Amino acid sequence: MTDRSRNLAILGLQWGDEGKGKLVDLLSARFRHVVRFQGGNNAGHTVVVDGQSIALHQVPSGALHPECFLVVGSGVLLNLEVFRQELDLLTQRGVSVFGRMLISEKAHLILPHHIALDQWREGSAGTNKIGTTGRGIGPAYEMKAARMGVRMGDLKHPETLIERISTGYEEVRILLGSAAPLPSIETITAQLMDYAKPLLSLIGDTQTHLWNANAKGEPILFEGAQATLLDIDHGTYPFVTSSNCSIGGLFAGTGLSHKALGHVLGVAKAYTTRVGAGPMPSELLDATGDRLRSVGREFGTTTGRPRRCGWFDAPITRHAVRTNGVDGLGVMKLDVLDGFDEIGLVVGYRDGMGGRVSQLPSCAQDWLELQPEIKMFKGWSQPTRGVRNFDQLPAEARSYLAALSDAAEAPIAYLSTGPDREEGFVWPEHFLTGLI
Ligand code: IMP
Repeated sequence: MTDRSRNLAILGLQWGDEGKGKLVDLLSARFRHVVRFQGGNNAGHTVVVDGQSIALHQVPSGALHPECFLVVGSGVLLNLEVFRQELDLLTQRGVSVFGRMLISEKAHLILPHHIALDQWREGSAGTNKIGTTGRGIGPAYEMKAARMGVRMGDLKHPETLIERISTGYEEVRILLGSAAPLPSIETITAQLMDYAKPLLSLIGDTQTHLWNANAKGEPILFEGAQATLLDIDHGTYPFVTSSNCSIGGLFAGTGLSHKALGHVLGVAKAYTTRVGAGPMPSELLDATGDRLRSVGREFGTTTGRPRRCGWFDAPITRHAVRTNGVDGLGVMKLDVLDGFDEIGLVVGYRDGMGGRVSQLPSCAQDWLELQPEIKMFKGWSQPTRGVRNFDQLPAEARSYLAALSDAAEAPIAYLSTGPDREEGFVWPEHFLTGLI
């Protein structure tokens, strides 16, 4: 009998950038395995250690804990050039992943023509632009679904590589035309093998590795990338990424069953942000939005783009809580709200006729007419930055958080009050007690 209750998933509940990396980093010391299961280098997890920040895109955030075994599951996309750069950065900080990382042989590769196609589409889409990260994510997942993808395991059979790459490459070539500045298939293959050489020993069967780990009762931490509102099925389609960032993606992207999962920790900022195009009823296009952006340093980790900012949106978070079966919330960046006279909470939406909307729309057009219903709360004069226990929280902050938790339909498990590891605390009497 294994103690599956110790296995924990950390998932984003908004449009990404919630601060999942900090929680993964904080919790990693308690887990033997840290697993990425979807997404690629569109993700950017910033972890701050001793005041120094490190942005990880593909390497699991547990990398900074030398006892953690790192797993890159089959649902992940890898850009090997970027992956090598990340490993080099870690090496410069004295961190090595060799001997403690396994990459699924089924994980798909992002290739230069995927990136070219992503950027070409975004450049020619006009108002239909999704605002992707331009990292080739959509096309790489499309190739996977079209059965034209190239997988990590293929790197162990270099004689088949040119053929594997060519089908997808030729289609992109036809679409983009012969003038498109694409490297030749031979160049792509040679570069790929060059990047892959030191990684070949890391490629293996991650599903069996995780089955065995779970059978032995070794605790596993699953690290989500992006978030539920960017999920290809359950997000604000078509303004989403191309993977399942919610709970279903965990099972597909690891090959473990639901029986391997204990708790789900859902992560949300104390306000809302979004990068890229698409609906965001809570968006504040005024000085308040600008203030959230500048105080919260809301610029993309991956692309540097300014993030759209607004008050906490309870309807989207509740949707994510229900979709993922969230046991507790990690509420991040409360300190960014310090000093506001009043703080808003989006408690519902009204449609174009003024009627209450109880479910999130599925069509982008229907989102456009939604007006947020905002409840205002009194701000707090005493700063929360760096607060490390519940008793130190100003009464106004407690009221705001209680309302947030009620509206999102999930208890708070952890509160973050600043970027550093030390800034924040586990909410009293929660399943995280003793883990951080
Ligand atoms: P893609 O994943 O690059 O195809 O981008 C699709 C949409 O997801 C765009 O709106 C991106 O801004 C957004 N997106 C992708 N990854 C992240 C992330 O890690 N954080 C926030 N937004 C993201």
